[in-house]
Amino acid sequence: MSRLVELEANGPRKLEADDLDEEKGDVAICRCGLAESFPFCDGSHRQTEDESPDERYVYDEDGTRSVVDRVVCTDESK
Ligand code: FES
Repeated sequence: MSRLVELEANGPRKLEADDLDEEKGDVAICRCGLAESFPFCDGSHRQTEDESPDERYVYDEDGTRSVVDRVVCTDESK
């Protein structure tokens, strides 16, 4: 499985002491790319639990998932 994730940040996000989850005592970093609170996990990864390993996915901003054959990127600046 793979999924297209669009990120706009162009630099690191340093973790601060208040990033620590007071209840759990840890910091969870998002690896699925879907968190509204990126780079922190907010549970959005649950949307990916039934993804097939043989498919490619694109998630719209509203969370709608589409299966695509391929992802084509174009350079819109040209
Ligand atoms: S890993 Fe991305 S929201 Fe949890």
